[in-house]
Amino acid sequence: MIGDKIYRFDKLDSTNDYASKVAYEFPEGTVIIAEEQTKGKGTQGKNWFSPKGGVWLSLILKPGDNSCISLMAGVAVCQSLYNLKIPARIKWPNDVFVGRKKIAGVLTEVLSKGEVIIGIGINLNIKTFPAELKDVATSAMIEKNKEYDKNKFVEFLIKNLEEKYILFKKDKKTLLEEWKDYSNIMQRFIEIKSAGSLIRGRVINLDSNGALLLELPSGKIESIIAGEFSIQGE
Ligand code: BTN
Repeated sequence: MIGDKIYRFDKLDSTNDYASKVAYEFPEGTVIIAEEQTKGKGTQGKNWFSPKGGVWLSLILKPGDNSCISLMAGVAVCQSLYNLKIPARIKWPNDVFVGRKKIAGVLTEVLSKGEVIIGIGINLNIKTFPAELKDVATSAMIEKNKEYDKNKFVEFLIKNLEEKYILFKKDKKTLLEEWKDYSNIMQRFIEIKSAGSLIRGRVINLDSNGALLLELPSGKIESIIAGEFSIQGE
């Protein structure tokens, strides 16, 4: 179902913006891919560096219930990178890192009629990054010093997305377990800025909606649905 229809473009401003415009008329599972983006969007209004060589795609989904939907993309991305022997890790909710450098990101947007656009950016064959990203970003090419067959990779990614979407619909518990296996924060002490305040605690689990469960120094359990955090000691 996912990838039954794939629309490929040489250049788009943003695959998410394009997908949002056509989401009402195009069937669920449609994939929009661009070789490069001129206005790639990251989370929190940031730009996303999207030159040729990377995998920039958006997926149109109509899941009904959206909880944990973006976690499934993180799992599919990690699995696809593992297949290239790249030890990728998910930082909650769905940034993907190799060591301390980001290799992929997911931008999920929910439209007014419930359609969900999942934008996935993976730094595959990117040789160099601009100065401001050099210390914080990496690519499969940089990690392994080789060029990958992008079409093959995208095919595998789409197959993984399909598998994880089926899991999302049928067995969220297993999907959350897979997410935990790929994440780097379970049992770690973190500091998170959430709703204007700074909270410190140990990550003890994810709840059934994908929220982080933090154990505070007082022993109280706090559930976090959004925020920017850092892992203590990193
Ligand atoms: C992040 O900041 O971590 C999210 C990055 C998401 C980038 C992808 S690339 C394809 C899709 N189109 C966009 O404009 N953004 C997403």
